[in-house]
Amino acid sequence: MKLSASFAALLALIPFAAAQQAAYGQCGGQGWTGATTCVAGYVCTYSNAYYSQCLPSSTTSTSSHPGTTATSSSSHASSSSATGSSSAPASTSTAKLNTVAKLAGKKYFGTATDNSELTDTAYVAILDDNTEFGQLTPANSMKWDAIEPTQGTFTFTNGDTIANLAKANGQLLRGHNCVWYNQLPSWVTATTWTAAQLSSIVSTHCGTLVGHYKGQVYSWDVINEPFNDDGTWRTDIFYNTLGTSYVSIALQAARAADPNAKLYINDYNLESSSAKATAMVNLVKSLQAAGVPIDGVGIQGHLIVGEVPSTFQSTLSEFTALGIEVAITELDIRMTLPSTPALLAQQKTDYQTVIAACKAVSGCVGVTVWDYTDKYSWVPSTFSGQGAACPWDANLVRKPAYDGIALGWTT
Ligand code: G3I
Repeated sequence: MKLSASFAALLALIPFAAAQQAAYGQCGGQGWTGATTCVAGYVCTYSNAYYSQCLPSSTTSTSSHPGTTATSSSSHASSSSATGSSSAPASTSTAKLNTVAKLAGKKYFGTATDNSELTDTAYVAILDDNTEFGQLTPANSMKWDAIEPTQGTFTFTNGDTIANLAKANGQLLRGHNCVWYNQLPSWVTATTWTAAQLSSIVSTHCGTLVGHYKGQVYSWDVINEPFNDDGTWRTDIFYNTLGTSYVSIALQAARAADPNAKLYINDYNLESSSAKATAMVNLVKSLQAAGVPIDGVGIQGHLIVGEVPSTFQSTLSEFTALGIEVAITELDIRMTLPSTPALLAQQKTDYQTVIAACKAVSGCVGVTVWDYTDKYSWVPSTFSGQGAACPWDANLVRKPAYDGIALGWTT
């Protein structure tokens, strides 16, 4: 009897042993159905939403995360090693982020989301909570390649899913985006268009997209990222063919399609006084002078821990002084991994600083985080070795950054 119990115990170990991934093998990520634990000496380490990898434990576990074991880590536990949730300081705030944003006089605190994330029930349970998030932005499903993959054929299915989710949850929707140099289908970029042809293409695309969601969208990023960091125009197919006129073509088509949606131009590196911010101010002025509709500037807010610009609030005010609104549209504050309690504490301060700046500027209508969790952040796959940029960690556990946001709205 004793012998057979030991044998059973031994048998029970066999699938576990067989399930361990080899050194440097994949051990997690969206759609991954293979092993999620690693052979001895390796830790399953979160890289991005699509990929976790077995890396040597000596390079992945740190003294700041004593709870992380070198072996048998699940991909979730490994996320902790990348984001520091296992032994890092916890969030203690009892505030709900959208509730306190509205108490501060704002329209919303919101988050980006993406269709592929909506099968994650634990993620969706938090996303659906409109006391936390009063607004959603589709991270990808309203972009040109998703909406008009071939000329004249519009596919709204994924965009509709997020629009309907926001509606069901009582959340505002930001539309993202009509015209951007990135994520364009090849039919747009692979042809040499005349100005008249491209003007019609832009007008049709924006008019059809905005018109489809008429009455459902609080604000649209009609134009995304038109400038280089030095304030010169980005020389994409739109600028090269139409000059600056593509901006007014798109804005006018959007206004005609949904007269009640707020029309924004959205860009990054607008968080401080800079040539790029000045270029945006001048663009807004010239559009206003020409009678072209423009209601807001989106300040994306892809920031770095410890580097929130000291002129953030005054830069927001420079835009609202033009008689338009501003919103922080894509906030995340990344760090070099692994995270440490000190980095997480600084990140909390940084989130608080950003939110306090929006709170202090009456024309700043709201803040959107570019997904609320490190589990689905775009950062690690774009900036090698960086991440942990969101207020919830990869295990959907609130970080000190959450408390920073709450403090920003409430103090
Ligand atoms: O859909 C495919 C999937 O089929 C495939 O298996 C997978 C493998 O990599 O790729 C998937 O497409 C990815 C797509 O996101 C959807 O998840 C693309 O590779 C990936 O490049 C794309 O990244 C998006 C990025 O924009 C593209 O530039 C990010 O999710 C999105 O968060 C990011 O958002 C931008 C804003 O629109 C503008 N401001 C900057 C911000 C961050 O880059």
